Amino acid sequence: MKFYITTPIYYINAQPHIGHCYTTIAADCLSRYHRMRGKEVFFLTGTDEHGDKIAQAAEKKGVTIKQFTDEMSDVFKNMWSKLNISYTRFIRTTEKEHELTVREVFKKLMENGDIYQGEYSGYYCIPCECFIPKAKIDQSNPACPDCNRPVTILTEKSYFFKLSRYGNALINYFEKNPEIIQPRFRLEEVKSFISQGLNDLSVTRQGSIWGIPSPTPEKYTVYVWFDALLNYLTGVGYKNNTTNEYWPPDVQLIGKDILRFHAIIWPALLLALGLELPKKIFAHGWWTIGSEKISKSKGNIVDPLNLVNRFGVDGFRYFLLREVPFGLDGEFSEEKFIKRFNSDLANDLGNLVNRTLNLVEKLFNGIIPTGYVGSEMEQLVDSVITNVDKTMEDVCFSDALSEIWKIVGEINRLLDTEKPWNSPLTSAKNTLSQCIAGIHIISLFIYPFMPETAQKIWKILNIPHSKNNILLNKDALKIPEGIKSGQREILFQRIKI
Ligand code: MSP
Repeated sequence: MKFYITTPIYYINAQPHIGHCYTTIAADCLSRYHRMRGKEVFFLTGTDEHGDKIAQAAEKKGVTIKQFTDEMSDVFKNMWSKLNISYTRFIRTTEKEHELTVREVFKKLMENGDIYQGEYSGYYCIPCECFIPKAKIDQSNPACPDCNRPVTILTEKSYFFKLSRYGNALINYFEKNPEIIQPRFRLEEVKSFISQGLNDLSVTRQGSIWGIPSPTPEKYTVYVWFDALLNYLTGVGYKNNTTNEYWPPDVQLIGKDILRFHAIIWPALLLALGLELPKKIFAHGWWTIGSEKISKSKGNIVDPLNLVNRFGVDGFRYFLLREVPFGLDGEFSEEKFIKRFNSDLANDLGNLVNRTLNLVEKLFNGIIPTGYVGSEMEQLVDSVITNVDKTMEDVCFSDALSEIWKIVGEINRLLDTEKPWNSPLTSAKNTLSQCIAGIHIISLFIYPFMPETAQKIWKILNIPHSKNNILLNKDALKIPEGIKSGQREILFQRIKI
């Protein structure tokens, strides 16, 4: 079964920060999970490289735009490799293939009468790359209603996409398929926005130099969001008006800042093209500091590499996915990070693996005890397996992790109550074989969240696993008899405060 998942493509005028990492790590986690469940995953991410602000950033740096975009897309790729992001394709909007897609789609919409010629008169926010109607601007202080930065006045000939034509069709589609926009309250937001009436969307820029040339007699460039949204088509090989077997996307992850582009313009374009709509668009919340969105423009950036270099990549991935329910905002602080790391990872999980393996070595010469799993543990494991599946389908990472941590808690409790270091060998063997079975299950389920840690546990237990299809087969949950534990390693070093 195919599974197509996307992240937004990120602007490259600045370094990747914790916000960009958040969406990408979330997409990686889902990709790994679905691969484990036997799906053929296509995971698309990339960079959004057109628009005036990119040209301005290159000029500021004193390099050519080409040089700048090449360098910056590499910065993103390097970050993803540090974070163990297992994307299938990294798309750049400056690729020839993408340019062809955009021009082809543009032409098709012109032929269908969905794109027409007119004149745009209003405002434009370069940082947000969005057109703002005059009515939305306070004339005494013309600033962008979203980011509050200065806006540019535009009066220019332009081509328009007939977005207004699709308002009713979108509402009808959403009524029939309410699960498409998530969390649910975002759908209501989108519907109420649409019901106020949609304006047609200007899809060309006259004055912009850095963009895809529009396939029109005039030398305009294609509006950067029209260009950017189509990356999801190019990414899986849109050719001659057809998509391949991965279409439609199963999950498209975005931040709530770009909900309207993805929940209105994007599906309207797809309706106009006669293509299937994505199954799920999930808008997550923002990481904030002092309730302000973390962003380059606010200057409150959290450098992911600083945390990763000090505390490891898995601690970072875990914190982001565990700390805050995916659809809501979350306040970032190093203090919270350290607290979470020390309690859940160093204490609960790290210590558990360590003390269990110490006992296995001491009592059984390192031979992994197997065979006995009490009925309570068995029931717990079954319910965790079902619930993790449900929560991952619902894109609720923090709930999935708290499910997994129920097993962590249960094994810690077992050790504390059964005290295998103090009991006859047969009962110690039963206790430890339950602990090991539990740790093994935990290691499988944390793999999408913390792939390095999972693999370390597989080494410690000396049970090799392939990374795909593991959860397809119940046999993967069984531990072979007579294995000797492998090389020991501390999973998480407690952070001293
Ligand atoms: N290029 C457009 C997206 C085009 S998609 C067809 C863009 N790029 S961006 O670089 O500004 O990235 C925005 C995305 O980065 C958000 O949607 C979100 O995924 C992520 N985040 C940026 N800052 C964030 C936070 N402070 N918190 C969480 N995620 C945020 O918009």
